[in-house]
Amino acid sequence: MQKPKIAILISGRGSNLLALLDAIRDGRLEAEAAVVISNVESAAGLVRARERGVETLVISHKNRTREEHDREIVAELKRRDVELVCLAGYMRLLGSFFVRSFENRILNIHPSLLPAFPGVDAQRQALAHGVKITGCTVHLVDEQLDHGPIVLQRAVEVLDHDTVESLSARILEQEHHIYPEAAALVLKKDFRVDGRRTFCQDRD
Ligand code: GAR
Repeated sequence: MQKPKIAILISGRGSNLLALLDAIRDGRLEAEAAVVISNVESAAGLVRARERGVETLVISHKNRTREEHDREIVAELKRRDVELVCLAGYMRLLGSFFVRSFENRILNIHPSLLPAFPGVDAQRQALAHGVKITGCTVHLVDEQLDHGPIVLQRAVEVLDHDTVESLSARILEQEHHIYPEAAALVLKKDFRVDGRRTFCQDRD
């Protein structure tokens, strides 16, 4: 049977991209990585994807409207029969055309326990607020920033001596665990979304 095709969108380092590719290689995520797309030509993750033999594309957002940019990406995804889109450090908000083209089929990972600390610098926000527990969230993407229905979360304790760097590193380690797990859940036949809640028997 053909494996579902996933696309991974990045803007930078690409460590979550590698975690997804590792999970595919090891059989923890039954999927095929069809393409990696970056809006930033210098994104380090592009090199890492090419080293793994995955097709890469750069589609810059410069000198285009959001809709024009989104349409170009969606066309490339449709051309490759992509079923699931994983945003992995993709630092652009998706417009309604993109979100509607892949309804409940776009995932994002965010380094906080949403709805706390959306947006940039989530780990810095958590430290500044003084929370004792933070973590990471994989959620379905809607048109609002870091907002759609939650698929998986993992808690990470904030330690007294934590800096943004040390806390970010421990959260990132958990991101690498939950992103492939969440992608696998969403691809299961019995995965469903009801309002803000998501369900899958395999998670129970
Ligand atoms: C990750 O920590 C991810 O959670 C965060 O960017 C980093 C990308 O790292 N995403 C967001 O803050 C989205 N709002 P990576 O390129 O090494 O995967």
